[in-house]
Amino acid sequence: AFKLSDGKQVTWCLMFCVSTAVIGSLQFGFNTGVINAPDVKVKNFIRNVTVERTGELMDESTLTTLWSVTVSIFNVGGMIGALSVGTLVDKLGRRKSMLLSNILALIGGLLMGLSNMCTSYELIIVGRLVIGAFCGLCTGLTPMYVGEIAPTALRGAFGTLHQLGVVIGILIAQILGLESLLGSQSLWPLLLALTAVPAVLQSVMLIFCPESPRYLLISLNQEDEARQVLIRLRGHSDVEDDIREMKEEAMKMSMEKKVSIPELFRNTAYRQPIIIAIILQLSQQLSGINAVIYYSTEIFRNAGITGPVFATIGVGAVNTLFTVISLFLVERAGRRTLHMIGLAGMAVCTLLMTISLKLVVTTAESSANMTAISESASAGGTSAISILAILAVFGFVASFEMGPGPIPWFIVAELFAQGPRPAAIAVAGCCNWTASFLVGLLFPKLLKLCDAYVFIIFLILLIIFFVFTYFRVPETKGRTFEDIASGFSNAATNL
Ligand code: GLC
Repeated sequence: AFKLSDGKQVTWCLMFCVSTAVIGSLQFGFNTGVINAPDVKVKNFIRNVTVERTGELMDESTLTTLWSVTVSIFNVGGMIGALSVGTLVDKLGRRKSMLLSNILALIGGLLMGLSNMCTSYELIIVGRLVIGAFCGLCTGLTPMYVGEIAPTALRGAFGTLHQLGVVIGILIAQILGLESLLGSQSLWPLLLALTAVPAVLQSVMLIFCPESPRYLLISLNQEDEARQVLIRLRGHSDVEDDIREMKEEAMKMSMEKKVSIPELFRNTAYRQPIIIAIILQLSQQLSGINAVIYYSTEIFRNAGITGPVFATIGVGAVNTLFTVISLFLVERAGRRTLHMIGLAGMAVCTLLMTISLKLVVTTAESSANMTAISESASAGGTSAISILAILAVFGFVASFEMGPGPIPWFIVAELFAQGPRPAAIAVAGCCNWTASFLVGLLFPKLLKLCDAYVFIIFLILLIIFFVFTYFRVPETKGRTFEDIASGFSNAATNL
């Protein structure tokens, strides 16, 4: 176990439990990134299946529609999964819910893996829906369990591990999706089915993980069991501080009991934190991050970069590196500050992206028109602008991972006490998935419509979210759940 500066320690048991939960984050990242690389092959497959069935060639627009359904139905599943988190954890607890959710991963993986053998693209579509539901559950279950078992002083750093899992998942999908690995004509079904492997691993590891002590004490009123778990997690028997704090929360909760979703909006004590939670989710998705994660190869190609696929893997690497940096900063700088730094950085990079992408096009046009002008000079100009475009994209992703990436996912668990937490995580998660669904759906159309100026839309949104964070989001670093929640209810009664 590792000793911390305040004499407390991070035990093997705690690290094991967090690692187990974070496999869910890895799954979410993997399935987010996995569909990009083999796109051409899956489209060919859909085309061939139709020819085999009807003897006729499918027209391009039907194919495009079927392909967008395949990609985006994942988010529809995600919305459903995220929304079910509250009911599930209230009934079964955190650990059993994670265990059960893996059944979805197995079914989804199996369906997609068998699609080729059964010559049915419908299996991919249904499989993506099921996997989406599974990932929707993961985005609620992992931050909830991790937030509940982490010591207060490390809740942000551990919460950031969820996002680290996500970005590593995306990177693994980008690498395994290379043509020479699993992204080939014959192996893509295996690539899609691979999600079943971590599901089995997590299920086995979960057998050795305890239930969240907060769930045991506050929701089930099992104090002795909760104390035993805390002793294992903390590595010493002096856990009375934790127990006292939970009991205070339990006492307040016995007056409120379980909180339903409509109640979150009706009760004045919850209204402010739920609005903050929702806007933070929107700030994550409407920052435009997935426009880059999904379409970076295309963006790089338009910017005149040779080897755009490798620039995309570069995005994955920068993404991972800066999540690690945020992990070390989040307990020092605080959530609010990092979120604002991230949003501001993204805004600047968005502007640079727009300018550089516009310049690339203009330079290309003018050099095409004025071929007489020294070619080498214009080529030199283009490459400098292309480098600016790459740097802007890297800066955009790096800024995202400083705050807007990790923080929204774990801060919802911090903004609410035990009673309203499951409902709040469900609502926030569903908003996140809905927003990413909309970006995935609309970005390609907007890009066609407004060209590189599409990023101006994100720039405006980023500024709005920055202002909102400055005026409305409280710092939660180092504060107990109880303290944060009573901050909001005091504010509500003072109104
Ligand atoms: C966050 C977002 C996810 C995005 C990822 C990129 O986890 O929720 O949509 O793809 O960050 O790193």
